[in-house]
Amino acid sequence: MTTGLLYGLGLGPGDPELVTLKALRLLRAAPVVAYPAPEDGDSFARQIVAEWLDRGQREIAIRFPMRPGPPPVAIYDAAAAQLAAVMDAGDDIAYLCQGDPLFYGSFAGILTRLAARYRVAVVPGVSSLTACAAAASEQLVQRDETLSVIPASLPEDELAARLAQADAAAIIKLGRHFAKLRRVLARLGLLDGALYVERASLPSQRIAPLATIDPASVPYFATALVRRA
Ligand SMILES: C[S@@+](CC[C@H](N)C(=O)[O-])C[C@H]1O[C@@H](n2cnc3c(N)ncnc32)[C@H](O)[C@@H]1O
Repeated sequence: MTTGLLYGLGLGPGDPELVTLKALRLLRAAPVVAYPAPEDGDSFARQIVAEWLDRGQREIAIRFPMRPGPPPVAIYDAAAAQLAAVMDAGDDIAYLCQGDPLFYGSFAGILTRLAARYRVAVVPGVSSLTACAAAASEQLVQRDETLSVIPASLPEDELAARLAQADAAAIIKLGRHFAKLRRVLARLGLLDGALYVERASLPSQRIAPLATIDPASVPYFATALVRRA
């Protein structure tokens, strides 16, 4: 029997209209659909394509803790074993990824465990990086500028050091790290030009000067765009 194939499908930032034709075709053809999900609640990746899921498809939710800490190795190992068993039985799997699969996505942890033994194909998706810039109609970088992508989860001094060196930066994973980021931007004189983009491309999208945002209102799916004047 031929083993199944693993597709890592990038589904874009949230708006179903930003799912590529290729991802949609492969999603519809796959007998098994897997996706990352929080310990409680819905998978964002699944929500993006919920209207196209077929009741006949088997679904595998891979539940990740949303707490800070080291990479959840045991969860990745168990997920890889579960997906391997599906492919050994001959079925293809569509692994749903919000945004792009290889841009800070959980798919990387699956890929590294399975790529040596199984056929894997990755379909790129519209990343939140470009979706946030588009939503705000803001350029990311031009000419010889460099762009830094910086997780807000870094310790405060490291965040400041990385931002101090950046021509332009997208700061991701805001949530509970927002107040720290705001302090750092103020310290570096970057607060006034900073933009806040929440849930880009969704009906609940929010775009505002970062300085006006209440830290208590900031979700995980929010990004800051900063450019040196
Ligand atoms: C783990 S990364 C995943 C990125 C995803 N793979 C991509 O290509 O966009 C999650 C972070 O991306 C950013 N993000 C993802 N979707 C977003 C959206 N629709 N609007 C704003 N930021 C978003 C947030 O900063 C969030 O904390």
